[in-house]
Amino acid sequence: MQIGRRQLLGAGLGATALATLPGCSDQGNGNSGTPSTEKKVEVFSWWSGPGEGEGLAALIDDFKKQNPGVEFINAAVAGGSGTQARQVLTTRLLNNDPPDSYQLHAGQEAASDIKADKLEDITYLYQAGGWNAQFPKGLLDKLTIDGKIYAVPVNIHRSNLLFFNPKKLTEWGISAPPKTWDELLAQSKTLAGKGVKVMSVGTTWTQMHLMENVLLGSLGTQKYNGLWDGTTDWSGDDVVKALDTFKQILAASVVGTDDWQPTIDKVVAGTAAYNVMGDWAAGYLQGAKKLAYKTDYDVVAAPGSTGVYNFLADSFTLPKGAKHKQYAEAWLKECASPTGQDLFNPLKGSVPARLDSDKSKYKDYLAWALQEWQNPSTVVVGSLVHGVVANNAWKAEIEKAYGVFFQDKDSKKFAGAVKAAYAANK
Ligand code: GAL
Repeated sequence: MQIGRRQLLGAGLGATALATLPGCSDQGNGNSGTPSTEKKVEVFSWWSGPGEGEGLAALIDDFKKQNPGVEFINAAVAGGSGTQARQVLTTRLLNNDPPDSYQLHAGQEAASDIKADKLEDITYLYQAGGWNAQFPKGLLDKLTIDGKIYAVPVNIHRSNLLFFNPKKLTEWGISAPPKTWDELLAQSKTLAGKGVKVMSVGTTWTQMHLMENVLLGSLGTQKYNGLWDGTTDWSGDDVVKALDTFKQILAASVVGTDDWQPTIDKVVAGTAAYNVMGDWAAGYLQGAKKLAYKTDYDVVAAPGSTGVYNFLADSFTLPKGAKHKQYAEAWLKECASPTGQDLFNPLKGSVPARLDSDKSKYKDYLAWALQEWQNPSTVVVGSLVHGVVANNAWKAEIEKAYGVFFQDKDSKKFAGAVKAAYAANK
């Protein structure tokens, strides 16, 4: 998958394209949720933990202000990256019991849901709100099929970040974070001599999050993109070598079963030197943990990915059969609004999806993030773990193969399994 940066940041669809877009359709979808007249809305996400809940709470507060008397049901299911939430959601959708709006990632994850006919076309909301011009066209393309748009993006997150505690690095005699994965492995030896692990890694999705960024930093953007569109051979020597590097990093790390917050806490505490995580971690460290950027924590691009934005975008939908459609629409309007985005994103640790945000609200790490995101020479690629580059069926196969790899550490076998699964699910 190749995402031109200009494509992502470019202007919205023109008026001519808009004029030809058909309106909303609710025919023949087999979803039979019974509409209700109650003044309430149920919104489903995985934002309940520290660093995730605060941003959502700010958006909910503003929604309540804009929609007095509407009861808000926060149906968040805990668990980073939505692995648990997705399971609950799948059951609800199968039982024709959808929430009024649910979170999903722009990209192939959204495409899978759209193709599975779970979502309403909300082009009419874009037309009424004049939203097309307010979001990057390339981003809206990731939520569009056959000219119909199916979700509202609230943010842009960056996944390829290396977090560290600058005071601890100095204490351990390390002058700068590594710029390549080999350099990180070299530092791991120095650190081991001091009884410190080079990296803190948590539960499976955080391991795969690290893996995608080792692949990115080792292969470069072009070959990384090719992993997702079939033009890079998963079984090629360079990919297998990158997987071997990942294996070595895992072997030199503290590998736990925790979610991302306790995993990055180890870096703050100094039991491990680094953590590769998305910038929701900056929201957490700055907010819930009350740490100061540059002094208590610092962050650089993950090794080998300076100038690259491994992006993902959280978006909200209108599922077919939503019981409180009117208030779900009000929620989507809140998500799309400049006020909502500028309340949510500074707390969430993300930059706004909208093009017209108030830059003064983005400070510390986020001032840098916004600058990088808007820099014309930044190269944008998409995240595997966070829904951008692989459809749900292939991603599930990759997760299955990863489970085996984690046990047997056979890079070639893993690469072969991912390659075969691509052919079967593309
Ligand atoms: C991502 C999501 C982010 C953040 C992260 C950790 O998938 O897009 O907003 O919540 O998971 O939970």
